[in-house]
Amino acid sequence: MNQTIELLHAHRSIRKFTPRQIDPSVIETLISAGQAAATSSFIQACTVIQVSDTTKRESLAQMAGNQRYVAESPVFLVFCADMHRHQLACQMHDAEMRSGYTEQFLTASIDCGLFAQNLVVAAESLGLGGCYIGGLRNQIEAVSNLLELPELVYPVFGLCLGYPDQNPEVKPRLPINVVLKQDSYSSDQNDIVALEQYDEQVKEYYQNRTGGTKDQGWTEQISGMLQKEARPHMLEFLKKKGFLLK
Ligand SMILES: Cc1cc2nc3c(=O)[nH]c(=O)nc-3n(C[C@H](O)[C@H](O)[C@H](O)COP(=O)(O)O)c2cc1C
Repeated sequence: MNQTIELLHAHRSIRKFTPRQIDPSVIETLISAGQAAATSSFIQACTVIQVSDTTKRESLAQMAGNQRYVAESPVFLVFCADMHRHQLACQMHDAEMRSGYTEQFLTASIDCGLFAQNLVVAAESLGLGGCYIGGLRNQIEAVSNLLELPELVYPVFGLCLGYPDQNPEVKPRLPINVVLKQDSYSSDQNDIVALEQYDEQVKEYYQNRTGGTKDQGWTEQISGMLQKEARPHMLEFLKKKGFLLK
């Protein structure tokens, strides 16, 4: 253990914030920590939109399934996978950009994940807390229009940030032997045993967190979720934006 690893293990999503504002210089520090992440082939394909306009924040909160902290958190950021400026780079060199490759969609999306997680870790190291908002993809086209995103840019997720006004327990993660395999993918039967043990841990976590009202293991939660459609509008939207065409 060292301080960095301890910080990583102390992570929990924060959804309630004190009114204390975040200094703009801190935001710049966080953005630059995000930029310091590795980036596929140096593409630097993440653009962050800080949304401060209260009307837009209210709209985004509703689009995300009425998640109040989207409107109320001191800072709200939208992470966009962005291949638009690469078009500009090609124009600057009279080159015709070959876009629409699934590979480009993947690399730009991965860049956003790495950028954002660097930023979150930096924020947590400064005593801030946050919560990613994938709910923005519920109405991704409306979000994209609201933020005036051009072709080859899509909103991957949002992030609420602020000083925590709650102190939730750390959520237990899957056992190491389920997520770390050696040399090849192996042993569904062993995984089932490990998942059953993990279910008990997650049930206990939820019981403590909800005062006994929620009593659900991880496998039950996931099996419930995976019987539902998963934002089926996504492929059509991404194609419209110039992604996932080949
Ligand atoms: C990409 C992404 C999207 C998420 N979207 C939401 C969201 O829309 N609303 C929310 O309350 N939490 C959201 N979360 C937070 C997860 O629910 C949370 O990270 C997970 O339950 C683990 O809990 P922990 O972060 O407290 O460890 C999101 C997390 C990620 C990584």
